[in-house]
Amino acid sequence: MTNEALVALALEMRQRSYAPYSHFAVGAALLCDDGTVFTGCNVENAAYGSTICAERTALLKAVSEGRTSGFQAVAIAGQGEDFCWPCGACRQMLYEFAPDLTVLAARNDGQFRVCSLSQLLPKGFGPHSLK
Ligand code: THU
Repeated sequence: MTNEALVALALEMRQRSYAPYSHFAVGAALLCDDGTVFTGCNVENAAYGSTICAERTALLKAVSEGRTSGFQAVAIAGQGEDFCWPCGACRQMLYEFAPDLTVLAARNDGQFRVCSLSQLLPKGFGPHSLK
């Protein structure tokens, strides 16, 4: 799957967003090496801190379906003028399962930037750190 196609899925997933508090819809699409894609959206909560981001929704869908490795890329699409880079908590969660992940951050007009997770979370703490 092309980067453009993965970003298109993330953009589309914004429609599923539940964001009555921030009104900031985010969609995500997580690509596996066999071509499987897990999608997600942000799901907010009246207890604001319980909100879950779109990319974490996608990741947790994958893990809960038994997929814990082989992740290639994640596309994240916000609705702002700026590229939607993952928050710190999501960087850490993604790093656990995919330290070599490619991150595609999209903005409202569909343009996106590509970066590696290791660039976004250098010297990260992960499973290897506990050895
Ligand atoms: N959000 C995401 O879903 N992913 C990100 O990478 C950044 C932030 C969500 C969380 C919250 O529902 C809304 O965007 C505003 O912060």
